[in-house]
Amino acid sequence: MAKLTALRGTRDLISPGILRWQEMEETARRVFSAACFSEIRTPVFERTELFERGVGEATDIVSKEMYTFESKSGDRVTLRPENTAGVVRAYVEHGLRGQWPAPVKFFYIGPQFRYERPQKGRQRQFHQLGVEIIDSLDPKSDAEVILVACEFLRSMGLDDLVVDLNSLGDPEDRARHREALVEYLRSVEGQLDPDSVQRIDRNPLRVLDSKVKSTQEALQGAPRIVDFLSDEAAAHFEAVQAQLDACEVKTRLVPTLVRGLDYYSRTTFEIQSEMLGAQSAVCGGGRYDGLVAELGGPAVPAVGFAMGMERLEIILEAMRGEATVVGPDAFLIAMGEEAGKKVLVLARDLRRSGVRCDVSFAKGGFGKQFKAADRRGARFAVVLAEDEMAKGTASVKDLSTGDQTEMAIGDLAAYLRAGRQGSTEAKGES
Ligand code: HAM
Repeated sequence: MAKLTALRGTRDLISPGILRWQEMEETARRVFSAACFSEIRTPVFERTELFERGVGEATDIVSKEMYTFESKSGDRVTLRPENTAGVVRAYVEHGLRGQWPAPVKFFYIGPQFRYERPQKGRQRQFHQLGVEIIDSLDPKSDAEVILVACEFLRSMGLDDLVVDLNSLGDPEDRARHREALVEYLRSVEGQLDPDSVQRIDRNPLRVLDSKVKSTQEALQGAPRIVDFLSDEAAAHFEAVQAQLDACEVKTRLVPTLVRGLDYYSRTTFEIQSEMLGAQSAVCGGGRYDGLVAELGGPAVPAVGFAMGMERLEIILEAMRGEATVVGPDAFLIAMGEEAGKKVLVLARDLRRSGVRCDVSFAKGGFGKQFKAADRRGARFAVVLAEDEMAKGTASVKDLSTGDQTEMAIGDLAAYLRAGRQGSTEAKGES
């Protein structure tokens, strides 16, 4: 029978790598909660129409990359390729405008699905953590979103960040720019790659995003969208930059930064890392002032970002090497039938008082049992034997020094906890 394996572009997250994921999730919860974002968990699948209307039919995501199927009841269903559309759908569906104080600030962590060609940093099931601020046009909200992204990355140990920034203006600005851009692209059509030529009429902004070298060269003289901003959009963009300057967030204007989703307006941004190779963006986001109304809600502006967790994992691995598993504080070994009946009770009591402990299920003598404790990386082995139990004591062996002591069962928890602090603080365990 053929071996069953995970599908291409998907993977299992197991130890030790999973420790990084837990760290990313815990850090995200801490950093986002400190900035008063509340968590939202939307369904992993939604009506296909949500993404067609939200992300845009001309985008690669909607036209080529969605996992779409018909459910048994005949609904067209799609595994979410991103979370912003779902968050906005929930905001509209629950009538949060007026019910919750504005702006509404959400964060999320979870899997997303895109049928892309898998490569380093590009999965078919991947994970994002992100935030959205709905119902604020204040430039401080753009800056807050970017600041929170940087603070999260800083908390994960990434300093020296530079945020790539651009403004796509408002729809009228984009229409004027589009006209000039299409005219320019037609004039250099012969130098563009075939994909970009195809996009001239369908989605000319995306041509600016092309990774093909000859196309990039041909784009040198292309009209920049920042030169087409209305006074209002330009003032907004300046204010965002001033806010970020004040927070000492380093930014760089990248006039070709257009993003792969149709809902953006005004501020767009990305954070890149050289450690990622071709898929260099670890974070992307921006303002999407038209999306809430597009999805049937009130005309309220919004801004947010999402961070690719697989990509962040690659960066963390390059910076720190593989994650280290911290073994249990104690490994409990029962010797004899009576002790065997009591060992889970002792484990339960120790765990209740904050000791991380594992119990031996193996049969065999001391040598075998201590070996099992060692393989698990335990700090101490605790032996529960009949004669000691009768006295209310157990013996504790420090597996790093080999020292052995006998102590009252009631004193075990404090001793084992103290030993853990001594042994693992240096490894940075909290
Ligand atoms: P996005 O740029 O499509 O934006 O994705 C955000 C991040 O998710 C990317 O920068 C990348 O790190 C990660 N990512 C995307 N596709 C993959 C993949 N196939 N494998 C691994 N990582 C991937 C959005 O999704 C928007 N919803 C962001 C946003 C939120 N804009 C406003 N609010």
